Amino acid sequence: MNTEIIKISATSSSDEYKKAVELLKDNQVVGMPTETVYGLAGNAYSEEAVKRIFEAKGRPQDNPLIVHISEFSEIYDLVSEVPEIAKKLAEKFWPGPLTMILPKSEKVPSCVTAGLPSVAVRCPSHPVAQNLIKYCGLPIAAPSANISGKPSPTKAEHVFSDLNGKIPLVIDGGESEEGVESTVISLCGETPKLLRPGNVTLTELESVCGKVLVDDAVLNPLKDGEKVSSPGMKYKHYSPNAVVTILKGDYKSFCDYVNKNKTSDTYAMVFDGEGNDLDVEFITYGNKNDYRSLSNHLFDCLRELDSLGAKECFVRCPEETTDDLAVLNRLLRAAAFKVIDLNKVLLGLTGKTGAGKSTVSRYLKDKGAYIIDGDIVAREILVDNPVLLDTLAENFGEDILENGVLNRKKLAEKAFSTPENTALLNSIMHPAINDKIQSEANEAFKTHNVVIVDAAAIIESGYADTCDKLIVVTAPEEIRKERIMKRDRISEIDALIRINGQKNDEFYEEKADYIIKNYEPFLLENELAELIKNIF
Ligand code: TXA
Ligand code: MG
Repeated sequence: MNTEIIKISATSSSDEYKKAVELLKDNQVVGMPTETVYGLAGNAYSEEAVKRIFEAKGRPQDNPLIVHISEFSEIYDLVSEVPEIAKKLAEKFWPGPLTMILPKSEKVPSCVTAGLPSVAVRCPSHPVAQNLIKYCGLPIAAPSANISGKPSPTKAEHVFSDLNGKIPLVIDGGESEEGVESTVISLCGETPKLLRPGNVTLTELESVCGKVLVDDAVLNPLKDGEKVSSPGMKYKHYSPNAVVTILKGDYKSFCDYVNKNKTSDTYAMVFDGEGNDLDVEFITYGNKNDYRSLSNHLFDCLRELDSLGAKECFVRCPEETTDDLAVLNRLLRAAAFKVIDLNKVLLGLTGKTGAGKSTVSRYLKDKGAYIIDGDIVAREILVDNPVLLDTLAENFGEDILENGVLNRKKLAEKAFSTPENTALLNSIMHPAINDKIQSEANEAFKTHNVVIVDAAAIIESGYADTCDKLIVVTAPEEIRKERIMKRDRISEIDALIRINGQKNDEFYEEKADYIIKNYEPFLLENELAELIKNIF
């Protein structure tokens, strides 16, 4: 099939619509401009036309379509009842980028609603869409005119590039003004619920409806087996070919991160006026402080990444205000919810026994960091974990347990007596400790930006690789020996046994991002100055 493109504008005569009207009346499908995005239009009363829509897009069968009308009165054919709130919303926002979900009438075929008892209705403001619907005299079912999973089309050429050969006609009515799909609100429950954010914002909706609930799926990935209010929410969406990652944080941290993590096909998507500090190619998607300017260009930019051949793209994150929900919602899906928060730093803190990492840890805690003490985690894990205790007893002897309680001194004597025993202890303890540390860190990030994991064996356990940076605290052996003899009240020989059970200096220093000398004549403040400056 050849796909024809014809230009129609607000001033075109009804004659110019003739071809499109004929096709629609013949249950064929047509690319149609709207003020939000281009739609793939078909007769909403025809199962044949609806089937063609699903086929051309490759749309999953359980994802219902929006039915478009040219004026409010036409809604009575489509829904079984029109609540007062729907009238009020229509008065304020129709024609325009708002879709309302209401109980469906008998007339709407169930293939349009994917078997749901409700139907989505929208009255577009685009003059060409308005006229087309009027001239056909039919309600028009139209999803966005992209291949399922791709960014929605905001230009006729986007529709052509996705559906060339699959549909007979695309009407070119110019670039879609809004740039993101309509806001979808369900009026089927007791309280109205926002299912998909768009350019009619939550604040605007609430000015008419009072309280509006926000569906969980708007900003969160679906949990396994979760039921969705809007089937479209569960599919991967708006994805360019590039792997998209959203970076939360300020512009400087964004540039630092991108410049450090770039590969040869990395692109960046930034706000207007930004990008000159980047070592990678970039595109801009709008004014940071104007959500409409961001939503207007979002899909065009995502498509542009494909034409540039981007394999990876880092995107500046819009503010999380209620007005920006639409942009964030689409970006999160384009990124498959991959977000890195550059304000949050996970630091590892380690050093040989007696090097004085606890002093460093206390110091950083005073600066506002949340400290996770690996020793405490290890201790707690041994208290409420009989399986772990049994494993230790099997490997180090039953005598490390007294009436089921661990004798820590005995275990330490045995475990630190040789490098092999230390390794054995580590292989038992580390996986359990890492899991517990990770869940504590996730919790801590809800209230803190800097989380420090203070753990002697953080390199051996592999957790250092999870951390953004590793701090290694050092002190000469003589000083360390004296510190641990005093601290743990042990003999010189015992102290040396412990010291000798550890790895050499290179092992630590090779992995370190920061080396802190914690002994005289060095001053801890001075040693930590650079770190504090970078992190806090
Ligand atoms: O701006 C727009 O809304 C564009 C233009 C063409 O009008 N259309 C559009 O359609 O974005 P589509 O199919 O890409 O998105 C429709 C969304 C989907 O997420 C779908 O699951 C949801 O609306 N939807 C449709 N009927 C529904 C219903 N009865 N209940 C819940 N969600 C529904
Ligand atoms: Mg769509």
